[in-house]
Amino acid sequence: MTPTQIELIRASWTKVEPIADTAANLFYGRLFALDPSVRPMFSHTDMEKQRKVLMQTLTVVVKSLDKLEQLVPAVQALGRRHAGYGVRAKDFDTVGAALLWTLETGLGPDFDADAREAWATAYGVLASVMIDAMAEVEEAPAA
Ligand code: HEM
Repeated sequence: MTPTQIELIRASWTKVEPIADTAANLFYGRLFALDPSVRPMFSHTDMEKQRKVLMQTLTVVVKSLDKLEQLVPAVQALGRRHAGYGVRAKDFDTVGAALLWTLETGLGPDFDADAREAWATAYGVLASVMIDAMAEVEEAPAA
């Protein structure tokens, strides 16, 4: 992540925050349209709460972009919990696509190619830490 990319992400997130719930609604709608097979994973989920938690988590990540290494233990724990939710590594591609689509839809022309690449890079870092941590759970022998 370059300092310019971090600035681009922060600038776009400032514009998303006032429309956080709308953006989260757009995101889950798009996610379930792209891959209806992930919907049952959320069958017991309070989606109103989930939308808030997702946006709060992204706010923390955006604030910490210049010190992402400090977030690694928490992101690994998040990844391990996702293994328990039945999430598969391939689902991260779908979630990434839904996130980029949401930003594009919410921000319009402000979300230009550089902003898109910055977000894709940041998401890719998070996703790979989570996927690695999920794989460790799956490989661990049953206690
Ligand atoms: C960078 C990527 C992601 C982030 C930051 C993220 C964030 C979160 C957070 C903060 C929670 C709240 C519960 C907890 O802290 O354990 C959560 C729950 C959940 N996430 Fe994710 N997530 C990501 C990717 C995914 C993917 C790829 C899927 C698969 C479709 C997914 C499906 C779920 C499900 C099913 C829950 C459980 C909801 C419940 O508690 O009922 N997430 N996620």
